[in-house]
Order: sequence, then structure tokens, then C-alpha cells
Amino acid sequence: MSRSPTSTLAVRPVRQISGELSVPGDKSLSHRAVLFSALADGTSVITGFLPGEDCICTMRAMQAMGVSIETESQTSLIVHGSSGKLQPPLEPLDCGNSGTAMRLMAGVLAAQPFKSRLIGDASLSGRPMKRIVDPLRKMGAKIQGYGEKHTAPLEIEGASLTGIDYALPVASAQLKSCLLLAGLFATGTTSVTEKTPTRDHTERLLAYFHAPPLIDIHPKSTARTIRIRGGTRLHARDFSVPGDFSSAAFWIVAAAAFPDSDVTITNLGLNETRTGLLSVLLRMGAHLNETISDSSCEPVGVVRIYGRKLRGVRIAGAEIANVIDELPIISVAAALAEGVTEIRDAHELRVKETDRIAAMAQNLRAFGVTVDEHDDGMTIHGGATLKAARVGSFGDHRIAMSCAILGLFAKGETVIEDTGCIATSYPTFREDLLKIAHFQDTGFASLLGARR
Ligand code: S3P
Repeated sequence: MSRSPTSTLAVRPVRQISGELSVPGDKSLSHRAVLFSALADGTSVITGFLPGEDCICTMRAMQAMGVSIETESQTSLIVHGSSGKLQPPLEPLDCGNSGTAMRLMAGVLAAQPFKSRLIGDASLSGRPMKRIVDPLRKMGAKIQGYGEKHTAPLEIEGASLTGIDYALPVASAQLKSCLLLAGLFATGTTSVTEKTPTRDHTERLLAYFHAPPLIDIHPKSTARTIRIRGGTRLHARDFSVPGDFSSAAFWIVAAAAFPDSDVTITNLGLNETRTGLLSVLLRMGAHLNETISDSSCEPVGVVRIYGRKLRGVRIAGAEIANVIDELPIISVAAALAEGVTEIRDAHELRVKETDRIAAMAQNLRAFGVTVDEHDDGMTIHGGATLKAARVGSFGDHRIAMSCAILGLFAKGETVIEDTGCIATSYPTFREDLLKIAHFQDTGFASLLGARR
């Protein structure tokens, strides 16, 4: 997928952050909704689909394997399921920047009776794939990573799989989901044990598409074992994707840290394996409330945030998996808070779209924040007066958006370079920024709206 390397985003200080908005559909759920409905028997209508580059990769890959998908609009898809029988793709399947697309599809393709090749951009081609290659091979898969250390491109020759019992060596919902999807097509039962809970969208959507996994919660720890029986079929069902909590996180932090702000986010996914940011902010002294209005598949509701001065906290242990995508914006909250914030046990941050520890440490320092970098996190000394900065995105959407939020609090004009990556998860970020950020320089909003 081509992106403009020259796109930039400029922001200036705000006088107020307020308003109501709903954010685009959840990225994790959009991938799964299109994948699961493509594998199901019958036709599903998916609404609220995120038309970001990452999810479009999954949709196109399904189309390339013979699944008929009608796009009623960018966010509304009619998916005619393949009853689990995909067609051999004529070309490599391009996963772009998306680890979710590559890891989840690898689980499905391991059992399809054809050869396939999964490719990605430079960032995805450097991300660890051995974590899926090893257990898939234990199930009987023929899968090979052609990059250094088993990284992408991945070549898969469909094989008959047998269920395994596997304890995840790393807290990863993508790895868990990859194995559960492979398990759907394997002989016998596949069980996956995770020491710390990761996002449970795959489990919830499997149940929603009539293939409920069995879930054992270990009584003396946070561990869970998820079991799926091979041969279980998915049945089509309409699904409405709620707003992405990880996208809302940018506005939640901006509002929480800006005194006297008042922001409401509606139709928001509030799955408790994703909303750890709210607990972190409450510990930081934030004033917010959460109302869940629907829990039929995924909890959905409204979050309202009022601004006040935050204070530094420690974030570590089992909580990390729940805030993994929010750590860049949490580091921004930490910079804006009084006192010291310590983030530990977050080694996984080093193997995301970029090394998010190194990237945020470098960018925070450019704004005048003191940061100590650790192998597994960082210590951020909050409360300094921020100066505007010119920083790079490292090609990572969450770094770009986090730095844009920090720029709202800095003196002068902040420029984020290489912001094309924002389209992977939040194509309307700039428009939503204009909805709730009220700039000190009132003419700047129209300037920002005009800059593309
Ligand atoms: C995702 C899981 C997380 C997350 C990613 C989306 C998913 O990755 O960081 O943005 O949809 O399953 P890991 O499972 O690798 O931690």
C-alpha cells in the first residue's frame, strides 16, 4: 500500500478541549469480523468497519481467496462466507503494516489445501513471527519465514493439523488468535493457556459466530485456558463494530490532562481487556466516567472525561497487556502529569510497528521531557514546561498521534513528519482533532483543515 512519506501534521497550543465525538470502528474487531464472516456459512453484514489500511489488507486478502465482499460504503460490508473453504490466491497476500492481518491469517492458511505467501511492509517484515511459526509447526503446519530470524515473508503450504496444548510464552492476543483459528481447522482440541489475559475479541467473536470456545479461569492466578474443538463451523451473523478504544485513547488523555476540558465519546468499545487506560488515568487522579449500554457481544458505551492536573504512577505487571497499544499515549499523559511515572514489563513495546520505547523516549526528549529508557519500559519525569518540537513518526501511527496530542500542550508549533501511517488505524484523525481541539490561535484550525 503506498503512502506519502512527505505528509506532515502541524499542531499548536489549545485553549480548550471539548466536545462530543465517536471514533472509527475498532481495528482488532474489524479484522476479526471480516475474517470470521469470510470463513462462515452464509452472508453477514458488517457495519462500523474501520476503513483503515490495516483492515483493508485483511479484506483484500479474503477477496483474493475467492470471498465475495460487497462494499455498501467504506464502513459497511456484505460478506458472503466461504464455509471455511478459501481459494488459492494468485499473488502474495499483502498484509501491509498489520501484524494482526499476518498472524491471524497464518493460522487460517496453515490448514487450507494450497500454498500461500504472506508479505508485509518493511516494519512488518522485521516483526517476530517465530512465535507463531513454532506452535503452528507443532500442529503439523508447513510454514517458513524467509526473513531473518523466521520473519516475513511467510510461506505456507496447507497441511492437516492436529490440536495441541500450548502455553503462550509471550502475552499476545495475535498469537492466541492465530492458534485458535488454526485449531478450528485441526483434528481434536487445541488449547491455549495465557498467563496474563490479553484482549479476548477472538473468543467473543467465535462465540458470536456460533463456535464458542471453552474458557477455564485458573483459580489461583490470572491465567486462562481457551479450548476450541476442531471442525467447529462458524455461522454468518450481522455485526456492528463499535468505536476503537485505542483511537479514543488520544482524546481521552488529551481531555484528562487539560484542566477544565469536557469530552464525551459515544458508541465506544469498552471491553475490559482493552480499557486499562481508564484505570491508569484514575490512579493518576483523572475525573472520568464510563457507562456501558450494550454487552451483547462486545461491551459498548460512552466515556466522559473532565480535565484536571494528573500525577505520576507506576504501570507494570499483568496490567501491561491491557494497555499495550496505549503506552505511547500514556507516556504523553506521564509527561503532562506532576511527578514521576514508571512503565515496566513492557518488552513487547520494542517489537510493535516500531520500537515504541526508543521512539517515544526520543520524541518526548525533543519536547523537553526527561526520560530514562529501560529494556522493558521508561521512567518519565513529568511536569516540565514543553517546547514545540519537530519529530518523526518512525512510520508508526500511534507514535504520530501521541506526539500530535503532546503538541497541543507545547509552546509554539509542533510538526510531526511522515504522518501517512496514521491511515493504518485512524484515517479521520485530523478531522476529529479539529472537532475537539480549540486552538489558541483561532485562525489555525482552518489552516490545519486545509493542510493535507
Ligand atoms: C492485536 C493485539 C495486540 C495489539 C495489536 C492488535 C489484536 O498485539 O498490539 O495492535 O488485534 O489481536 P499483540 O497480540 O502482538 O500484543
